[in-house]
Amino acid sequence: MKKDFITVQDFTKQELMEMIDLSLALKQAINSGYFPPLMKDLTLGMIFQQSSTRTRVSFETAMQQLGGHAQYLGPGMIQLGDHETIEDTGKVLSRLVDILMARVIEHQTVIDLGASASVPVINGMSDKTHPTQAIADVITMIEHLPDGKKLQDCKVVFTGDGTQVCVSLAFICTRLGMHFVQYGPVTHHMNDEVQAILDANVKEYGGSWELSDDRNSVRGADFFYTDVWYGLYESELPKEERVRIFQEYQINRELMQLGSLGAKFMHCLPATRGEDVTDEVIDSPVSICWDQAGNRLTAMRGLLVYFNRNRQAHSDLEISAAKEALDNKMAKIFNL
Ligand code: CP
Repeated sequence: MKKDFITVQDFTKQELMEMIDLSLALKQAINSGYFPPLMKDLTLGMIFQQSSTRTRVSFETAMQQLGGHAQYLGPGMIQLGDHETIEDTGKVLSRLVDILMARVIEHQTVIDLGASASVPVINGMSDKTHPTQAIADVITMIEHLPDGKKLQDCKVVFTGDGTQVCVSLAFICTRLGMHFVQYGPVTHHMNDEVQAILDANVKEYGGSWELSDDRNSVRGADFFYTDVWYGLYESELPKEERVRIFQEYQINRELMQLGSLGAKFMHCLPATRGEDVTDEVIDSPVSICWDQAGNRLTAMRGLLVYFNRNRQAHSDLEISAAKEALDNKMAKIFNL
């Protein structure tokens, strides 16, 4: 049965760790010169209702490295939800490509696409969640673990708005038994629905979560993380107002100094330098956001292979029989 990747919450800790381990194994193979043809001759359909650098390029590169191909279906390029319903689009594209990813304006669109498509659908970001980013984030943390600490020992502090990036990060950290804090204005904390999910995660997997506007809450952070203050989805307040609200949650040297010794800086990117983070921090040796961006590719390779694993493989015997049948038919058509 096909499975979609709409939110990290649809997967257990063990399944999430399998995705991460697979991604790391593929990274090691490719960095050592072996490009496994695990998506050979397959096509990924990439639906984008919003612009993207990292998500688009990493998916396309991943498909190429694994022997497949990606089709970019950018904003306005297909009839999704316009002349054609989302459900009809899902049914049609399932017959034209082997796997789909979608960056959508409204979360319900990617849910409806998953429900109507017979091929796996991966959420490339919605207004609610950004699960592929969360996988890349944990991979990056694993590669930059503080000396002597395991993932479960780490404290992750997200500063600013409770965006879909913050939510997905909170989901994955609490699913993996880590310690998560959103440090931001009370008016922009993650909502009650998300809080209930975090409670359930902590009950099942351990770890902790906290929402706070108190600067002391960041103390001892191993990883600081932030997002832009006005991105693709945040339009309820004018830009100047958002800058005023989030100014005190900027990641700068003073905030980083409240973290643990050797605390790292992360960002989903793009960053607005001078607003959500200072040049001094993002360009410093503690900044791992560039590795994190590179790990979008690491994650996409793993996710493509993971969600494609139920595809029926054909035996060599089946393939040679199919070739012979086609050769015979063509010989008749062309009088060979
Ligand atoms: N972080 C992220 O999703 O980047 P893009 O919007 O460029 O894909």
